[in-house]
Amino acid sequence: MSAEIINGKMIAAQIKASVRQEAEAFYQRKGRKMGLAVVLVGEDGPSQIYVKNKIAACEQCFIESFAYRLPESTTEDFLIDLIKKMNADERIDAMLIQLPLPAHMRQNHVLSFISPEKDADGFLAVNAGNLMLGNPSLNACTPCGIIELIQSTGRKISGTSAVVVGRSNIVGKPTALLLLENDATVTMCHSKTKHLKEITLHADILVSAVGKKNLITADMVKKGAIVIDVGMNRDERGLSGDVDFENVKEVAGYITPVPGGVGPMTVAMLMRNISKAAQLRE
Ligand code: GUN
Repeated sequence: MSAEIINGKMIAAQIKASVRQEAEAFYQRKGRKMGLAVVLVGEDGPSQIYVKNKIAACEQCFIESFAYRLPESTTEDFLIDLIKKMNADERIDAMLIQLPLPAHMRQNHVLSFISPEKDADGFLAVNAGNLMLGNPSLNACTPCGIIELIQSTGRKISGTSAVVVGRSNIVGKPTALLLLENDATVTMCHSKTKHLKEITLHADILVSAVGKKNLITADMVKKGAIVIDVGMNRDERGLSGDVDFENVKEVAGYITPVPGGVGPMTVAMLMRNISKAAQLRE
């Protein structure tokens, strides 16, 4: 039997609708909208699309957005000064600096000036550290979206064997920690992992966040597994994930499509982080 397709677009729409209710209630209480500041430095094509989508989502969720579009030539000092101003700006509950920054900037150094309680992306060391310690914090959006998608299947995460392929700071590592927090037994795989297939074949939950088309083939997937595809690979045939969707769906129990799976959830969880940050600052 073919896998059930997890509809990320629909689940993201439900989350945004619930954030909108929170944002409207916030407006009633505070007399101002929740606010997100978005900073884009330079002309990177995909970044411009992502920023446009984030601003559109704010509008859908009754959240005010403050967009700062800065030239490629912007200095690190100018950007750090802007971050300090946004930290002090009462209208701004959360902010994000769209990555990648131009090559002349030290990304981690610049981000370190964001107040942790306004860190919409959950990228800061303090927030990543709190996730590791199991403390409440603003967590990275894509990993939170992945957990929501898994939970939408109705299956319990507790006690499952979960395998995460990819160890990035913004997806692989925090996803593994969130799965662990939900009592899965977690294995992390990466470019140096030997015998990947032997490991993935044991996964009740398989998350691939590598960026390599057709990395996960049907012979690597346990029958009935939940398969979450975080890959975003663009070529002349359009957008595809890491998973050989057509064949894996004949083995898996649940599977996310690309596009329409994890992608829309990242923006929805960003909206939830803004709401969380705004309510924590009340
Ligand atoms: N660039 C690619 N993905 C992201 C993201 O989730 N947040 C930010 N700030 N930049 C990105």
